[in-house]
Amino acid sequence: MYHDLLKFAIKTAKKAGKLALAYQKKGLQIEEKSKNDLVTNADKACEKLIIAEIMKAHPDHAVIGEESSFIHKTSIKNYANAKYIWIVDPIDGTTNYAHQLKEFGISIGLFKTTNKENSKNFEYLVGELIVGVVNAPAMDEIFYASKDHGAYLNGKKIHVTKTPKVDHALFATGFIQETAAQNLPYFTTMMPRCQAIRRLGAASLDLCYVAAGRFDGYWEFDMKPWDIAAGALIVEEAGGTVTDTNGNQIDLFGKDIFASNGKIHQETIKIFQKI
Ligand code: IPD
Ligand code: CA
Ligand code: CA
Repeated sequence: MYHDLLKFAIKTAKKAGKLALAYQKKGLQIEEKSKNDLVTNADKACEKLIIAEIMKAHPDHAVIGEESSFIHKTSIKNYANAKYIWIVDPIDGTTNYAHQLKEFGISIGLFKTTNKENSKNFEYLVGELIVGVVNAPAMDEIFYASKDHGAYLNGKKIHVTKTPKVDHALFATGFIQETAAQNLPYFTTMMPRCQAIRRLGAASLDLCYVAAGRFDGYWEFDMKPWDIAAGALIVEEAGGTVTDTNGNQIDLFGKDIFASNGKIHQETIKIFQKI
């Protein structure tokens, strides 16, 4: 149903991926947006490219991009008139990228606003995610999904794991330096209860790895919508469950997220709720 929009998002994420690799090869200009929050010339160039492609192909669509249009939570209402809103992280995992690591991704999600009664009800956006693409160009992997049409990695259908219990589950999480204290008790509580915990450094890939059956679950706090929009849809389309860390419906602006294979979801939430 959203085939053309998905095709466009894949093409655009591939173009941005090539650009990101070219910049990484030739050397980067790295700045700090705030302490330990990096941005490179490539983040800006990739976002510029993605927005230009969207505006060329879909001039009536809106874009929320990390680098160029950081939108305060309340001003999302300015987008109320746009039917389609692209949610873009030009490089997710910038710290990895700036250190020449391969774990980074170009993340492009598409949100369709709707007033249908049964639609998901985000705090400031009513509607649903319909397309998600995460391109990890340094690893030649592109993950994508469109609503009700499954999730794919390099053209092959992907599924979450069948791991039934937390004690056999491999989790991933992430930290933002300034707010790490919030997650540390979750980390120390979960560590002895599960098989192991990984910290990859790119939220969009953490989600895609849940979708692809590499991780059984992933949680994090203090997220931005562009970190999770594309990946959340990809997990759901791969048969997984995505909520906040209390088990409530995910809110793109709600900051915390817990994604899993579904089978370990309630058991994990129960552990979280005792922290
Ligand atoms: C960050 C990465 C990281 C996560 C942070 C994000 P950025 O995004 O996804 O893994 O722990 O919460 O902000 O700044 O590299 O786009
Ligand atoms: Ca990000
Ligand atoms: Ca980013």
